Amino acid sequence: CPKPSPNFDYLWNFMKIVSRIKLPIETEMELFEKKFSASMSSKVSLLNRITHYVVNRKGKQMRPMFVFLIAKMTGNGEVNERTYRGASVIELIHTATLVHDDVVDDSNRRRGFFSINALWKNKIAVLVGDYLLSKGLLLSIDNDDFDLLKIISVAVREMSEGELLQIEKARRLDITEEIYFEIIRQKTATLIAACCAMGARSVMAPDSEVEKMRKFGELIGIAFQIKDDLFDYGNERIGKPTGIDIKEQKMTLPLIYALNNSSSEEKKWLINSVKNHNKDKQRVKEVITFVKNNGGLDYAVTTMKEYQQQALQLLETYPASPYKESLELMVNYVIDRKK
Ligand code: IPE
Ligand code: IPE
Ligand code: MG
Ligand code: MG
Repeated sequence: CPKPSPNFDYLWNFMKIVSRIKLPIETEMELFEKKFSASMSSKVSLLNRITHYVVNRKGKQMRPMFVFLIAKMTGNGEVNERTYRGASVIELIHTATLVHDDVVDDSNRRRGFFSINALWKNKIAVLVGDYLLSKGLLLSIDNDDFDLLKIISVAVREMSEGELLQIEKARRLDITEEIYFEIIRQKTATLIAACCAMGARSVMAPDSEVEKMRKFGELIGIAFQIKDDLFDYGNERIGKPTGIDIKEQKMTLPLIYALNNSSSEEKKWLINSVKNHNKDKQRVKEVITFVKNNGGLDYAVTTMKEYQQQALQLLETYPASPYKESLELMVNYVIDRKK
């Protein structure tokens, strides 16, 4: 029997971790997939073709997993129809924002395949994103889940604000660490915070519990986006392009740190590279090497781990259960994941 390659071992371990995380919510996740797929249906055949394409290339589904695990942890092991709808709304909105994000970032790959804009062009991608967003909101409205709708609507507003703040900073190249954290809190962490809050709210957990879970999600969400930004500095195959942030003049934590810790000469060179040579592959490579050699990646990893620890601390207040155990594994998965 041939020995599997180390890379294979690695992937195998990750699959094992993900299936262990899913163990206490296996039946819920199966039923969720059916409901999620049904929630997108339309009478327009072009739209149905595209939503089929989307459903068949599913992502990691971390947000619905958070919804179910938290609902079960805070609701004595029970979930209900509101929990299912909450999970679908979150994944619909998440999908909508990815479809739009690939237009905004001019990116042609998503989840290992072509993005919607790459296949059907921007016009259609914008409209499909709007469709998915409205389907998500209607799912809450049609079922009178107004408490859940409120949680999710705040996240939708903040995501748009975060994306626009990011564009504003990319144009002016005057981003600070503080603003970076504000951007990622808005564009990524609020949605993960919303799904954690919604999980608790769907089973009628008290307000203090809902708030604690919102905070938990926010901490994970920030760590999650730092990880995503670190991927951009690597060469790993993660199912979407890497090395595009500098090209898009998007300055993330590793680069911000390097900038703050370099001489004024180096600073000038870095800013000039991002401003005027961001499409020059060789120059971008030099910037990446500079950031690596000046501790930018190490700093981002350390910061990410601080958020991870804070999130784990919030979980400590709960008694042992399979759901808590899975959530702990998920917090670590956010940091260690390979895509
Ligand atoms: C990608 O989110 C968008 C970010 C917030 C960085 P995920 O990495 O959860 O995307 P999928 O759903 O698994 O593709
Ligand atoms: C993800 O942002 C989209 C939102 C959070 C709205 P990015 O542009 O940083 O993420 P990827 O790398 O394309 O998934
Ligand atoms: Mg983006
Ligand atoms: Mg993007």
